[in-house]
Amino acid sequence: MALYFMIPLFASIFFIFLFNSLLNLFKSKKSRDLPLPPGTLGWPYIGETFQLYSQNPNVFFASKQKRYGSIFKTHILGCPCVMISSPEAAKFVLVTKSHLFKPTFPASKERMLGKQAIFFSQGQYHAKLRKLVLRAFVPEAIKSFVSNIESIAKDSLQSLEGRLITTFQEMKTYTFNVALLSIFGEDEVKYREDLKRCYYILEKGYNSMPINIPGTLFNKSMKARKELAQILAKIISTRRETKQEYNDLLGSFMGDKEGLTDEQIADNIIGVIFAARDTTASVLTWIIKYLGENPNVLQAVTVSLLLLLWD
Ligand code: HEM
Ligand SMILES: *[C@@H]1O[C@H](CO)[C@@H](O)[C@H](O)[C@H]1NC(C)=O
Repeated sequence: MALYFMIPLFASIFFIFLFNSLLNLFKSKKSRDLPLPPGTLGWPYIGETFQLYSQNPNVFFASKQKRYGSIFKTHILGCPCVMISSPEAAKFVLVTKSHLFKPTFPASKERMLGKQAIFFSQGQYHAKLRKLVLRAFVPEAIKSFVSNIESIAKDSLQSLEGRLITTFQEMKTYTFNVALLSIFGEDEVKYREDLKRCYYILEKGYNSMPINIPGTLFNKSMKARKELAQILAKIISTRRETKQEYNDLLGSFMGDKEGLTDEQIADNIIGVIFAARDTTASVLTWIIKYLGENPNVLQAVTVSLLLLLWD
């Protein structure tokens, strides 16, 4: 029995979604009699998508958890799925029985991020992408970016001066700027505004029902995604002409030996922005919260950073 799972990188929710191909667990003859977790599947096709996304998702999860416990079934974005939240269940899926599961996203999300992105691939192609991503983030590679990252941090802090802010939102802006820098290096400034505009539209429709007709959020997202790919194609062709060496992520993907197509590069660039943004912003938000609540820790961290500077 193949179960499919995804991790919702798009929200700081510590639930693992166990999606399942429509025909498998819910429909097939063999497994029809197997018990499913408690829960409800909602309306046909729409399922419980609106209950999840029309409010703060935490409300949905909290009420389900209260009613059904840490493992329940539901139906989101056209997919029947099982949600798990206990550490034991997560270990079961990710470690002890990981061979029974295959990482995947709902088809609509694959289309939005790009079918050839690292998350959706397996085997040799996956291993290659992993290598290409990793080599752009080893200390040796990011060394040259540190001072630019520091400027981004300083600029962000300055822009917060005297304002009431939503920390997570500000951290998302910050991580986006750092992501663009790590991906495009010096080129970033030229394309920043266009990339931002398109990415924000894409993000807005990311959790929408996948109905691709004009006017829907999904349609707008898909359009923005197309435009992103076009901007990337432009950056890529400009780089090809200059034949310069770049030590950023795009440079790694474009390495001659690797033979990735422009489409594969675009899917993976968009994929990495997506993987890096909310996750890192969420961690930064928690760090700020705990430092704010624990002045003694804040002091210890400040001292150790100052010592580093003096070294
Ligand atoms: C604290 C921040 C982060 C958290 C909590 C986080 C979490 C995760 C999780 C849970 C996965 C799925 C792993 C799996 O499927 O087994 C993942 C995959 C991935 N993340 Fe992150 N991530 C973070 C930051 C980043 C950053 C900054 C990048 C930018 C390079 C990144 C790039 C990726 C990539 C490329 C994958 C796919 C790996 C693969 O399929 O082999 N992540 N991340
Ligand atoms: C938006 O919807 C129209 C009508 O279904 C479709 O032709 C078009 O391709 C969609 N746009 C994108 C970018 O998918």
